[in-house]
Amino acid sequence: MKGIILAGGAGSRLFPLTLVASKQLQPVYDKPMVYYPLTTLIENGIREICLISTPQDLPRFRQLFGDGSAWGLRIDYREQAKPEGIAQAFLIAESFIGKDPVTLVLGDNIFYGGDVFQRAFRDFKEGGVIFGYRVHDPERYGVVEFDKTGKAISIEEKPKMPKSNYAVPGLYLFDNEVVSITRNMKPSARGELEITDVNVEYLRRGKLRVCTLGRGFAWLDAGTSTSLHEASAYVQTVEKRSGIKIGCPEEAAFRQGFLSFESLKHLIAKLPKCEYRQYLEEVAAEAARGS
Ligand code: DAU
Repeated sequence: MKGIILAGGAGSRLFPLTLVASKQLQPVYDKPMVYYPLTTLIENGIREICLISTPQDLPRFRQLFGDGSAWGLRIDYREQAKPEGIAQAFLIAESFIGKDPVTLVLGDNIFYGGDVFQRAFRDFKEGGVIFGYRVHDPERYGVVEFDKTGKAISIEEKPKMPKSNYAVPGLYLFDNEVVSITRNMKPSARGELEITDVNVEYLRRGKLRVCTLGRGFAWLDAGTSTSLHEASAYVQTVEKRSGIKIGCPEEAAFRQGFLSFESLKHLIAKLPKCEYRQYLEEVAAEAARGS
């Protein structure tokens, strides 16, 4: 399975912060926002990743991650000239996807906890898999409605009258059909290739599985200054209490076996003296002790 991180868009809701850096490069507590969805991909075994952003912002991401090899990854970059919809990512990354299945994660979505993702990635065979997360304001999101047996019966994008409280978070798994499905889609009234239309098509074909993310799972989107601030506060609280970092790609790559112990040590040695380095030193020391 390959991975796409969509990290473009106008970032208008975070203006004037986005005059300085793109939304997905803003800090969420102690690291750039994009570290979190990247870590989610790595934790689920994905090491071939395509990062899509605007022509202005793409050079900054390249500077940040390079070709990914320092973390045992392969990172490709593609431009999205205009924000013409989330699903456009599958067309932009078509040559990267090749004949493989693909997962798409939005660059401003932060996930933490549980093992629903791990199971979904491990069990994925064909069709599409999306997730449902209970929220109090579903009208802000894609919304999935279930029947009494828990089977999905409808999905709507930002409905005025939501049929359920279950929002669809920005992480999607699809088989290779997603490219031809998107190619045959028309832009919506707002001129975008909608991810919800892709999901609706999989649902129509009877090939969409919806997994619910239960209590104890945190899904934060950091797209407004309020939610950005709240996401930072959440990460700080959990990290301070547990001593474990959320969204640390180096640690995830090491635990996945993408990075050897030697490579991790080498990478740590190149970091400046800071709290992040100290944390990775602890990860390495723990591994050396075999704990
Ligand atoms: O966060 C989950 C929600 O994301 C889903 O529930 C919705 O179904 C989905 O449409 C999307 O809704 P948003 O209102 O959050 O979409 P937004 O336009 O803000 O885009 C989400 C991210 O994707 C944002 O970081 C910018 C990036 N993006 C968006 C578009 C439309 C791009 O990079 N290119 C684009 O063309």
